[in-house]
Amino acid sequence: MSDFKQLHVSALMGANWEAPDWQQLETTRKGEWLLEAHSMTERLQACCATLDVEVLGLHQCDMETLTSSERELLGHEGCLVREVVLSGDNMPWLCARTLVPMSTLTEKEEDIAQLGAVPLGQRVFTQANARRDAIEVATVIVKGQALLARRSRLWVNNKPMLVSELFLPHAPIYQEEG
Ligand code: PHB
Repeated sequence: MSDFKQLHVSALMGANWEAPDWQQLETTRKGEWLLEAHSMTERLQACCATLDVEVLGLHQCDMETLTSSERELLGHEGCLVREVVLSGDNMPWLCARTLVPMSTLTEKEEDIAQLGAVPLGQRVFTQANARRDAIEVATVIVKGQALLARRSRLWVNNKPMLVSELFLPHAPIYQEEG
């Protein structure tokens, strides 16, 4: 496993997810990023000329390896785990880990297992019934630096997946309000 993946995916898995303080966050630039209900991919794309996805990992996990909160949000089921890093203009901006229950990867959604370098949001938000709920936030310490993270549930055709996202130090979320 690459050092990058080890460090960032482990940090996401160890995050202490909490309900966001909507009132406080809604008024800040960081909050707008963390509470984005539509596509994070689109929001990132608006900040760069090229947004690239690199797949760091794609594997299956058994139901037993899910945490209790993951089971509460997704149901008791094995999942596909997709781990990626998104780079804007060649700077790493976001590390994401998505759990996709096997029952989500059916019918029209079978292709989600084979997205490769196509960003998840680009695939999901072309569907009119896509929606996001259960947004939670966390601060994660990586190499002594406090990084922002969020976890949210995406629904496509009423089937869930759970996306955890870690904003890396060069991500636009940390840029000063302009
Ligand atoms: C993904 O392609 O897996 C992906 C892309 C953007 C995100 C999260 C996940 O914000």
